[in-house]
Amino acid sequence: MSQGEQLHQVRLQQLGAYPFECLKTLFAGHTPHTNLTPIDAGAGEPRLPLPAFVADTVAANLNGLSKYPSTIGSPDLRQAIADWLQRRYDLKHVDAATQVLSANGTREALFAIAHALINPEAAQKPNVLMPNPMYQIYLGAALTAGGEPVFLPCTAAHGFAPDLEAVEPSIWRHTALVYVCSPSNPTGWIADADYFTRLLELADEHDFYIVSDECYSEIYWQHKPVGLLQVAESSGRAGFSRCLVMNSLSKRSALPGMRSGLIAGDAGLIKRFTKLRSYTGPGTPLPLQAVAAAAWSDETHVRQHLEIYRASLKAFFDCYDNASEDITIPAGSFFVWLPVADDEAFAVAAFEQQAVTILPGSYLAAEDAHGVNPGAGFIRAALVDGPECAAELARRLRAVRI
Ligand SMILES: Cc1ncc(COP(=O)(O)O)c(C=O)c1O
Repeated sequence: MSQGEQLHQVRLQQLGAYPFECLKTLFAGHTPHTNLTPIDAGAGEPRLPLPAFVADTVAANLNGLSKYPSTIGSPDLRQAIADWLQRRYDLKHVDAATQVLSANGTREALFAIAHALINPEAAQKPNVLMPNPMYQIYLGAALTAGGEPVFLPCTAAHGFAPDLEAVEPSIWRHTALVYVCSPSNPTGWIADADYFTRLLELADEHDFYIVSDECYSEIYWQHKPVGLLQVAESSGRAGFSRCLVMNSLSKRSALPGMRSGLIAGDAGLIKRFTKLRSYTGPGTPLPLQAVAAAAWSDETHVRQHLEIYRASLKAFFDCYDNASEDITIPAGSFFVWLPVADDEAFAVAAFEQQAVTILPGSYLAAEDAHGVNPGAGFIRAALVDGPECAAELARRLRAVRI
């Protein structure tokens, strides 16, 4: 085996099993209660009706299937994204040609971006900071790109904010990239303008890039989340320097099967990423790019979805034990992040006793240097089937005994 192959293997070996694989293993040999209709609150898959424009737009653009789609996205799609960003975040100007890319779902883009932005040959391994618990792709990206993952614990004591002030100066010195997730999967925390401002100051001081995963930006309980580009512009930065954001129609428009999202920000970083993606990036089929352009241009379906998510959250907490101090109503996303005595035991009991699938929190987090997994003692449940199901889910989770 060549040295390069060995290195690659070592990096791959560092990847743990994906959370849903771990869940399959956990549930092996256990059977769900048969008298109850199963509730799958495990995956973060929004299950809402298709927005009205989808079928017609696909039909009108079917001939696009006879063409290769470009990876960067059609000019119409990139313009629709730029216009949406300007409207949503009150930005002066977003240049569709140089500051925007289409993503074939943000999962691939969040993974690939680390490979474009960090230098694995640096004398000191570049640090890649990420929240913990986290969307697992950040960790996989950091490891396979040859970075050193550094975990920012998100605990109830700090309102689940990844704690920037706890990071040692020696870590900042060798930091190349920071992932932020706001609203957060799984905790529901939302970054405010002060948080992003502080992160931007640190990025200038220590020369790193910020990738802000804002996929849940349109799903919030009370306050519409601010975005990184918005804070960058209002703090006077030219051209969103050092910043990239990602957002996804999977969540905003409940179209996870479409595989369409956006990447936007610093034109220099977009150019670098475009080069990498000209080799690796999958293009979204053209009929679906047409639907995506329509989806970024329509707010009616987004408002309707938001009402359903809010009603679901209310229905859930009306039936769950919301009097307990330990329970936090998530500020954003469609997940609830609930403390339990033992997350794996609870997940198995919920499956067996109540035919409910949820994820143990420890599967969404990594052990820190002290062997502490900040996701342990929590479960994540997705409220993606409307208010009635959310209420039933809450009743069943309350009834679980371990
Ligand atoms: C925080 C977060 N970011 C990104 C994604 C990726 O979504 P997609 O690839 O569908 O755009 C997900 C999906 O669950 C997510 O939870």
